[in-house]
Amino acid sequence: MSSKNALSAAIRSIPDYPKPGIIFRDITTLLGDAVAFGQAVDELVAPYAGLGVDKIAGIEARGFILGGALAHQLKAGFVPIRKKGKLPHQTVRMAYSLEYGTDEMEIHVDAVKAGEKVILTDDLIATGGTAEGAVKLLRQLGAEIVSACFVIDLPDLGGRRRLEELGVEVRTLVE
Ligand code: PRP
Ligand code: ADE
Repeated sequence: MSSKNALSAAIRSIPDYPKPGIIFRDITTLLGDAVAFGQAVDELVAPYAGLGVDKIAGIEARGFILGGALAHQLKAGFVPIRKKGKLPHQTVRMAYSLEYGTDEMEIHVDAVKAGEKVILTDDLIATGGTAEGAVKLLRQLGAEIVSACFVIDLPDLGGRRRLEELGVEVRTLVE
């Protein structure tokens, strides 16, 4: 099996979750498979080796799992971008919409210093609404967004193009 096929095979698809008409791409099966999880982290990290990245910013919740692993591999710090009301210190907040709803996300005001090189990560990009909100928050703090990376791209929903139009390089492993 090719490496892309092995990753795709490790992702479970659940029809009509969380709403009718949505096919939910469930990465818990990939995370529970040591070989697939290791391969996904290795493939995400590879293009960034030696770039001197300061921080990995992960989007709640699944972006935390990948982001922690990426931060360790790249010897970078980890920054959580959380759903509203979860962070204890002063934050900046942004409303956003995604494939199946709307919400607000926050980041601590001192999580990134101006000029720091940051990679944004999450498990999946669909409409790109969530990632766009995260890019805007990071830029408000003065971050230099080196790249954004995801295990899964749902290309029909246009998220990659939306981020690229914001001037952000996008890397994904499977469609
Ligand atoms: C999912 C996924 C991304 C977002 C992508 O998160 O992990 O964060 O949706 O959708 P978009 O590209 O259309 O914005 P979700 O909001 O379901 O949160 P969770 O990780 O806490 O389950
Ligand atoms: N986030 C947005 N759309 C999604 C999908 N189809 N599966 C999993 N997470 C998602």
